[in-house]
Amino acid sequence: MYVLGVETSCDETGVGIVEGKRLIINETYSQIVHKEYGGVVPELAAREHIARIYTVARRAFEKSGMTPSDINAIACTRGPGLIGSLMVGSLFARALAQSLNKPFVSVNHLHAHLLTPLFADPDFEFPYLCLLASGGHTILAVVWEPLKIEVLGKTLDDAAGEAFDKAGVLLGLPYPAGPLIDKIAKGGDPSRYRIRQPNVKGFNFSFSGIKTAFLHIVNDLRRKGGNELVGSERAHLAAAVQSAIVEHLISRLRKAIKIYKPRRVAIVGGVAANSCFRARAQELAERYSLKYVAPPPQLCTDNGAMIALAGYFKLIAGRRSSITESPRARLPLDEFI
Ligand code: KG4
Ligand code: ZN
Repeated sequence: MYVLGVETSCDETGVGIVEGKRLIINETYSQIVHKEYGGVVPELAAREHIARIYTVARRAFEKSGMTPSDINAIACTRGPGLIGSLMVGSLFARALAQSLNKPFVSVNHLHAHLLTPLFADPDFEFPYLCLLASGGHTILAVVWEPLKIEVLGKTLDDAAGEAFDKAGVLLGLPYPAGPLIDKIAKGGDPSRYRIRQPNVKGFNFSFSGIKTAFLHIVNDLRRKGGNELVGSERAHLAAAVQSAIVEHLISRLRKAIKIYKPRRVAIVGGVAANSCFRARAQELAERYSLKYVAPPPQLCTDNGAMIALAGYFKLIAGRRSSITESPRARLPLDEFI
């Protein structure tokens, strides 16, 4: 079964095609209009999706050598996300499904991220412990089956990616700062600046304390030596904040491994593209002799292929969505899978 997936929940315009669990093609356009704003500007994002969606879809067909009539079903992100952006993808996908007279199924964006370990290894078995860290969400969950997910914990304030991006603003980096911090941090010493780990109960996360501590460090430096001093310390600052964010993520994962004793563990979402996080998660998995995967970086960030994959699992379970169904900005995992 060939499923085409459409993703437009935030600032990536994505179209992907899967054949069952197998990835055929994944085409993404990452919007650059937000660079100077330090975050995604919703109105600009929606307009960019309108401008790009058709080209991205056409490229997916051209590169895969497929035509719309080869597709068996269309999947699309229903939410959560920016409502204007969601609307663009949803209308595009529903129109395509209707014009081709093919089944349509809508997908929870978070659910789709949680299934991306299968792109790293199609035989990765269920259940697995999965840490989703992205720009909008940080969730620790057990993926029991493709359509059965148990959330163990989530962030009480900012998301991990948001923490990277806000730290980037303080360092004068353009949005999204996560990938840049990853790069810059390679030349820095993470122990040069101390950032205390948050003290959060259970499996929940909190990044606001790290953000505030980092703000104080940067402000102190600025008082002592202006922007010049902050600039010359940038690699160490990036390394310190990256290390604090990653260690917090790893601490929850370690706790869940100790208590739940899973056999398999995965990290997903945009922040799972972070080289330090990937290395630390792998180390942890090896220490507990667990099978570990992280999807390739381009499938960690938002993409259409993961929507197609989640759509595939819903379709084989007999699920269909109405062509009149509208997207939802807020869509918790326990309400819609
Ligand atoms: O999953 P994603 O594409 O979108 C959401 O669903 O939010 O994640 C985007 C987030 C951004 O905050 C970005 O800064 C972060 O993922 N990110 C990274 C890296 N690549 C992307 N953060 C740290 N290191 C990276 N290499
Ligand atoms: Zn996402």
